[in-house]
Amino acid sequence: MEMSPIPKTAPFAEEEIDLLNRVVGPASANQRAWLAGFLAGLDAAAAGAVAPQPAAPARPAEPLTIVYASESGNSEKLAGDLAKSARKNGLKPTIIDMADLDLSALTTAKRLVFIAATWGEGEPPARAIRAYNELMGEGVPRLEGVEFGVLALGDTAYAEFCAIGKKIDERLAALGGKRIVDRVDCDLDFAEPAGRWIGDAVKALAPPNAGGRVIEVDFGAKPALALNNDVVEAEIIEYVDLNSSRSDKETIHLALSFEGGAPAYEPGDSLDLYPENDPAYVDDLLRAAGLSGDEKLRAEFIKSRDVTTLSLKTVETYASSTGHQYVRTLLDEGQAKEWIVGRQLIDLIATFPIALDAEKLRALTRPLAPRAYSIASSRREVGDEAHLLISAVRYESHGRARKGVASSYVAERLKRGDRVRVKVKPNKHFALPAPDKDIIMVGPGTGVAPFRAFVQERRATEATGRSWLFFGDRHFTHDFLYQLDWQDALKDGALTRMDVAFSRDTPEKIYVQHKLWDRRAELIEWLDGGALFYVCGDAKAMAKDVRAALVRAYADVKALSPEAAEQAVVTLEREKRYLQDTY
Ligand SMILES: Cc1cc2nc3c(=O)[nH]c(=O)nc-3n(C[C@H](O)[C@H](O)[C@H](O)COP(=O)(O)OP(=O)(O)OC[C@H]3O[C@@H](n4cnc5c(N)ncnc54)[C@H](O)[C@@H]3O)c2cc1C
Ligand SMILES: Cc1cc2nc3c(=O)[nH]c(=O)nc-3n(C[C@H](O)[C@H](O)[C@H](O)COP(=O)(O)O)c2cc1C
Repeated sequence: MEMSPIPKTAPFAEEEIDLLNRVVGPASANQRAWLAGFLAGLDAAAAGAVAPQPAAPARPAEPLTIVYASESGNSEKLAGDLAKSARKNGLKPTIIDMADLDLSALTTAKRLVFIAATWGEGEPPARAIRAYNELMGEGVPRLEGVEFGVLALGDTAYAEFCAIGKKIDERLAALGGKRIVDRVDCDLDFAEPAGRWIGDAVKALAPPNAGGRVIEVDFGAKPALALNNDVVEAEIIEYVDLNSSRSDKETIHLALSFEGGAPAYEPGDSLDLYPENDPAYVDDLLRAAGLSGDEKLRAEFIKSRDVTTLSLKTVETYASSTGHQYVRTLLDEGQAKEWIVGRQLIDLIATFPIALDAEKLRALTRPLAPRAYSIASSRREVGDEAHLLISAVRYESHGRARKGVASSYVAERLKRGDRVRVKVKPNKHFALPAPDKDIIMVGPGTGVAPFRAFVQERRATEATGRSWLFFGDRHFTHDFLYQLDWQDALKDGALTRMDVAFSRDTPEKIYVQHKLWDRRAELIEWLDGGALFYVCGDAKAMAKDVRAALVRAYADVKALSPEAAEQAVVTLEREKRYLQDTY
C-alpha cells in the first residue's frame, strides 16, 4: 500500500495529524481517491460552485504492484521513483513495503515488481523477513501469467551479493510468473544502473501506446542525481574519545555544526558521512602496483575511490585485464571466493604482482561510498548541531593491520575545527511514538547512539511515556558511553530505568540479552501495556540474541509454548512495536 502520511507541517494540531495519518496511511488507493473527491465536492458545494471534473483518461490506467524490501531506505526510494515514472506511462502503481505484504496481493497483481536489498550475510532486510519466508515457503499461490521484474540492491563487498533479489527473481519465475525485464544487480553506486533499469521496466510494463499517449520513459537521470544533492558540509565543534585511555576500544563523540542551520533530521535518522582513505594505505597500494609517482591517481584514490574492498568481481576484472595466470587459476578452480575473505585490494596486487597502468588499477576500484552513523542528538536539545558516535574499526588479518575507512578517518585524521561532508539518511521506521507511549531501548556499544537522541527528544517534549534503556559494552570503568548523560536523564526523568551489562567485568560474559531475561516479568508487563521495543547495533549476533531472549521471556512469563511465544513477537513486529536498526 502506498503510504502518504500527512506531514507535520500540515495545518492541523499534532493529535489531529496523528489521527489523519492513522486513517490515510493504511487506506487503499480507492479509499483515498474517494476521500479526495468527497472533500473536493464538499468545498465546491459549500461555495455553490460546480466541482471541476478531472479530465477523463483516454483509458483506465493499468495496475502495477511494486513491492520493496528495504532496511536503510534505498529500495524504498527507488520504489517511489519507479511509481512516478510508471504513473506517467499509463500505469497505476501501488507501492507495498514487504513488511506489510500479504501474499494474496501477488496473485491478483497483473504486473509485479520487486525492489529488494540484501542485508546481514545474504539475508532479507529485517522488516521483510516474515513475508520473505512466506514467499519462499510452502503453499504459496501460483503466479501464472503475472508479468514481473526484479531490481536487486547490494554490495559487491559481501560474499552473498544481491542474494535476496536473486532468490526472489528465481522464486517468481518458479511460481509461474513471466519475467518481462531482466534482473539487474546493483552495487553501492546503484543510482545509474537502477535508473536505467527503471526506464527498461516501465518500457516493458507499460501498456502499448498507453491510452493513445506516447510512452514517456525517464531513463533514470533524475534518480541518479536526486540521490546526491543533499550533501552538506559541517564543522566538528566537539571531538571526544568516550573510552578511557585504558580501554582497548576507541569510540569518538563528534558534535557537528552546520552553517545556516542543521539539515532537518528526526530522532532515529542517520547521517551518511563521506570519508577519505588513509594516505598511508594508498601509498602502499600504489607502491605495490608500481605507480608510486602518480600524484593525480593518489589524490583521486584518497578522496573518491573505494581502494580497500576486494570482491569476486575485482578478482575477475584483475584476471581479465592483466591476464595474470595464477589469478585466473584461482578463479577457475573456485578458490577465489574463499581467498578474498579478510583480504583487501592491496593483498591481490601484492600477492599477484604484474605490470599495471593507472587505468587498469583504477578499473579495480569503485566510487568510495559514504558510511551511515546514527544521529545521537535531538535538534530540540542541541539546536543546529548533530552528534555522532563512531567506533574505530581496527583488526588484523592475513598478517596485516587493517583499519576501517570511515571510522579511522574520524579516529585518526580528523580533529576539532575540521570539516566533513554529510547527508541526512531519514529512517521513518525507527521513529519515536506518541509522547505518552512507553519505550524500551536495547542499544549496546554504538547501538546506544539513537537512544541518546530519543531521550533528548523526550526530555524536550516533556513526554509522559516511560523509557527504559538496556546498554552494554566491555568494561564499566572504561567503556560506559555517555555515562553522565544517562545519569542526568535518570535524575530528570527523561529516562525512567536503565539496565547495564558489562561483558568483561565478570568471569562469565553478560550481555544485554541476559539483562532482558533477568527483567523479563517487568519487560512483558511494559509490552502488554503497549510499550514499543527498539533494538540498535550489531546485526550479526546481538540482534538475533535479543530477539531470541524476548521470545523466551514471553514463553516463561506467560507460560506459552515456544511457537506461541514466537507468535507474540511476530505480533509485535506486525504492529510495528518491535523496531530494529541494526548493522
Ligand atoms: C543505519 C546504520 C547506522 C550505523 N550507525 C553507526 C554508529 O552509530 N556508530 C558506528 O560506529 N557505526 C555505525 N554504523 C556502521 C558504520 O556505517 C560503518 O559500517 C562502520 O563505521 C565501519 O565503517 P569503516 O569505513 O570504518 O569500515 P570499512 O572500511 O567499511 O570496513 C568494515 C569492514 O571490515 C571488515 N572487518 C571489520 N572488522 C573485522 C574483523 N574483526 N575481522 C575481519 N574483518 C573485519 C568487514 O568486512 C567490515 O565490513 C552504522 C551502520 C548503519 C547501516
Ligand atoms: C550491515 C549490512 C549488511 C549488508 N549485507 C549485504 C549482503 O550480504 N549482500 C549484499 O549484496 N549487500 C549487503 N549490504 C548492502 C545493502 O544491500 C545495500 O547497502 C543496499 O543499498 C541497501 O538497500 P536498502 O537501503 O533498501 O536497505 C549490506 C549492508 C549493510 C549495511
